[in-house]
Formats: sequence, structure tokens, C-alpha cells
Amino acid sequence: MASKDCVNEATFRQALSRFATGIVVVTTQSVSGCPRAITINAFTSVSLNPPLVLFCLGKSAYQFGTFAEAPSFAVNVLSADQQALSDRFAQEAEDDLSEVSFRRLMTGSPILSGCLTALDCITEKHFDAGDHLIVVGKVQAIDEPRDDEPLVYFESGYRRLKLPLDS
Ligand SMILES: Cc1cc2nc3c(=O)[nH]c(=O)nc-3n(C[C@H](O)[C@H](O)[C@H](O)COP(=O)(O)O)c2cc1C
Repeated sequence: MASKDCVNEATFRQALSRFATGIVVVTTQSVSGCPRAITINAFTSVSLNPPLVLFCLGKSAYQFGTFAEAPSFAVNVLSADQQALSDRFAQEAEDDLSEVSFRRLMTGSPILSGCLTALDCITEKHFDAGDHLIVVGKVQAIDEPRDDEPLVYFESGYRRLKLPLDS
């Protein structure tokens, strides 16, 4: 295993930025009932049966407590025209989703309008992992998928998908 001294943080970040991802906004309801949201690209599917997904939550994130304690959350997959939502929910301020259109499915977590799809989850498990917490959720309901382009994140910037390789 590589020791801390072997891996320079800037080099590590640069290497990870070469891995293209989509962007999701993870939402929940705070204990006081307020809708909350955070922009996440460390999201992945985990298991088909049972249906599990995970996201990695930075321990220094302003909203860490809210999301670490949440019994449920929703994963909203952003489309290419939703960059403004990604920017908004990456800000430090406690954002209550004012002026954002949303509804609720099963768990009560906000399902944002205009997303490619959304997964409504109950929190299944947490794993401590360095400066992040891995949050695993069991999917309870799925919002109807929309046929649109995804918002892509690559080399620290937003991108659009290019044409398929075989076209
Ligand atoms: C494109 C993008 C992807 C992000 N992905 C994650 C992520 O996977 N996990 C995470 O904890 N924060 C992620 N963030 C950061 C949070 O959205 C947010 O900016 C941060 O938690 C703000 O709080 P802080 O300044 O208190 O850390 C991402 C931000 C952006 C813009």
C-alpha cells in the first residue's frame, strides 16, 4: 500500500480529474423538515439485488451533519442544461431549495424537476473512509427517466457528451 509520503495531493487530484463522471444533486429533509441539497460527483451504483447506490460525503462539507444523519435521501441526476443547479448546491450556504421546483416520492426527499432521473433511497449503511463518509442507500422508488443529455464533469469543468464512438 502506498504511504502518505508517496502520493502528492495535487497530483492525486489531477489524476482523479481525468475520470469523467456525471453530476448528481443529493437531497434530503433536515430534522427540522427543511429541504437540503448538495452537489456530488462521487456517486456510483453498488448492487442490483438489492438495489443499492452510494455517494461519498466530505467530512468538511458545511452540510455534513445533515446528510450524515439523514435516514433517507434522493439522488437527482443532472441534465446538461442544469449546470446552474450544480453550481448552486456546491456553495457553502445552507440552501433550502427556495425557487427550485421539486416534488416528493416515497421518502420525502426532494425530487428536482427536469432531471434525467432520480432515485429515492433510505440510508442503509455508512462506511468511514478517510476524509469522506461513504453513504449507502437502498432505492425505494425511481422517478421516470427523461431522454436528455447528461451533465458531464471532466478535468474540473463541465462538459457535454460527444457523439457515440460508432457514429
Ligand atoms: C462538480 C462538483 C462535484 C462535487 N462532488 C462532491 C462529492 O462527491 N462529495 C462531496 O462531499 N462534495 C462534493 N462537491 C462539493 C460540495 O458540493 C460542496 O461544494 C461542498 O461540500 C461545500 O461545502 P464546503 O465548502 O463547506 O466544503 C462537489 C462540488 C462540485 C462543484
